[in-house]
Amino acid sequence: MMLEQLETLHQQAKQAIEGVTDSAALSEWEGQYLGKKGSLTTFLRGVGQLPKEERAVFGQRANVVKDDLTAAYESRATLIKEQMLARDLEEGEIDVTLPGRPVASGKLHPANQTLRQIYAIWADMGFQVFRTREVEDDETNFELLNIPQHHPARDMWDTFHTTAPGIILRTHTSPGQIHAMRRYAPGPLRVILPGMCYRYEQISARKEIQFNQVEGIAVGTNIRLTDLKGTMTAFLQRMFGADRRVRFRGSYFPFTEPSMEVDVECILCNGTGCAVCKYTGWLEILGSGMIHPTVLRNGGYDPTIYSGFAFGMGPERIAMLQHAITDIRYFWGNDTRFLEQF
Ligand code: PHE
Repeated sequence: MMLEQLETLHQQAKQAIEGVTDSAALSEWEGQYLGKKGSLTTFLRGVGQLPKEERAVFGQRANVVKDDLTAAYESRATLIKEQMLARDLEEGEIDVTLPGRPVASGKLHPANQTLRQIYAIWADMGFQVFRTREVEDDETNFELLNIPQHHPARDMWDTFHTTAPGIILRTHTSPGQIHAMRRYAPGPLRVILPGMCYRYEQISARKEIQFNQVEGIAVGTNIRLTDLKGTMTAFLQRMFGADRRVRFRGSYFPFTEPSMEVDVECILCNGTGCAVCKYTGWLEILGSGMIHPTVLRNGGYDPTIYSGFAFGMGPERIAMLQHAITDIRYFWGNDTRFLEQF
């Protein structure tokens, strides 16, 4: 009795699979016969009710049926897959005329683009990059640069302090002068010191609490103010145009003597006067000067033998002029709508 029913079920399943032509129908067929709740499975559970002597024969036959149906399932699955592939190849032609999908590629941050222009010009003039720490000690950021505690000039650099006494975030790249001099003294020295600086400022369109600077320093036995002026002029004309006028104004920094600020003819109005240059025709680009003898000594050079010049500039400020960016906060605001423009 049970054996007959098994055969009927077998025949039914084999017949049914002949009509299966896609994978959805195939998995339905599997559920119906072979799955946990399938009819073959349910049927085989009844084997316990058979008298003992019939069980072995029935069990054997049941296994054969199950293997046969499993094999039928697998060969049908292969068949369906092959048919699908054949259909895809026939119908799903590849349209080679479709436009390609754009690949979004990263770009250099506008500050880094300007930094690289600056590096390239200084590299041409023999200045290599020398990187130093962003977390500095008060001594190197100030005292060794001739800015003692309570010196009024400290007001020029509002400072972020850390919880460690005497450890601050550098307020300018000038402490790198000390590191570079101590590394190379008493040999000749010609490096630029680029990197991030931090100031405890009220953030505004013109002031950020973090910004890059590029410092530069040259030390040797015969470096004069004319070398500083010529080198600054060469740099600014490489950066902003060969015909740009450059002017020097007396200024004050504790670590240079004399000190000069360097202006370039406004690159937006060519010196005729506009809102960006505040109708002066000039843009302030650099701070510079001859390295103060005390600073040279702190760097390990004898100031009676050696002399040198130093300068510092703000790449974001330069990038703002190059791209007519009106608000410095865009640089570190991480708004991709701004960044994607460059
Ligand atoms: N460190 C100065 C500043 O942050 C700039 C400077 C560098 C001036 C080197 C002179 C020489 O304002």
